[in-house]
Amino acid sequence: MSAINEENTVLVRREGPICTVTLNRPDRLNALNPDLLQGLTIELAKLGNDPDVRVVVITGSGDKSFVAGADIHSMNQLGPRAIADYLELGQRTMRLIESLKVPVVAAINGFAFGGGLELALACDILVCKEGAVLGQPEVDLGIIPGFGGTQRLIQRCGAGTARKLCMTGERLTAADARLLGVVDVVVPDAEFKAEVEKLSKTLASKAPLAVQGVKRVVNRAVEQIVLSGLRHEVEEFLRIFASADREEGMSAFLEKRAAKFTGR
Ligand code: COA
Repeated sequence: MSAINEENTVLVRREGPICTVTLNRPDRLNALNPDLLQGLTIELAKLGNDPDVRVVVITGSGDKSFVAGADIHSMNQLGPRAIADYLELGQRTMRLIESLKVPVVAAINGFAFGGGLELALACDILVCKEGAVLGQPEVDLGIIPGFGGTQRLIQRCGAGTARKLCMTGERLTAADARLLGVVDVVVPDAEFKAEVEKLSKTLASKAPLAVQGVKRVVNRAVEQIVLSGLRHEVEEFLRIFASADREEGMSAFLEKRAAKFTGR
């Protein structure tokens, strides 16, 4: 396993044509801070140029969490310019995953909240541990999803489900996420690693040009709608990020108390 950046927040393991990228901030449940996102963009660019890679797997370190979201500690300290840069970095990272020419498997090994679920939604096939919990809880922090979650949820499960999940912030079990079409496969915890390996090997055994052709054609079908939606998501996010409720929501999380929202 090699590390991509100084903080070791992105670890990479190659096994033949399969590359596993592990997001590694276990003390923060692998939350996405700028350092991790930068490391991931560097790795994705390298993978995009490697003709020997046929499948990429993205997972979280440890047994508890895939990714618990965008990093609330970091976000809470950002001013208007810096939050716009952070949002741009996050959206660009998700687009890099989505437009990687090879299939990308999200191995959801635990919590997948906020930016974590958004990252998974940018992948091609979402495999989820039975014990995982998923959701878009941004409304509890006074914000909305900003890394493409609103748009990619609509593509996966329809506008009704996207609306409900993003408006209520409800936390889904893996089984419910499967029923709604948020994830593709749910696997008992003990069989999770083996099942991800089996799926990756299956994908790697298929004709690469054909697999990549499927990805391009499906992406092309939804691309224009998603891209225009992503711009709207950024505009809306930045407007709402400037609100008093956002300050209250994030302070409440960091102070481990319930938020009191006023609509300002
Ligand atoms: N950003 C930054 N830090 C995070 C984080 C996030 N999204 N999610 C968890 N952490 C940190 C916690 O602050 C805590 O740090 P501390 O030990 O310094 O207090 C550490 O990770 C462990 O989290 P904790 O809440 O103690 O674990 P838990 O098992 O009780 O709860 C969650 C796990 C995922 C349910 C809970 O951490 C949570 O709700 N996280 C936020 C999810 C979210 O709203 N994501 C969207 C962000 S836009």
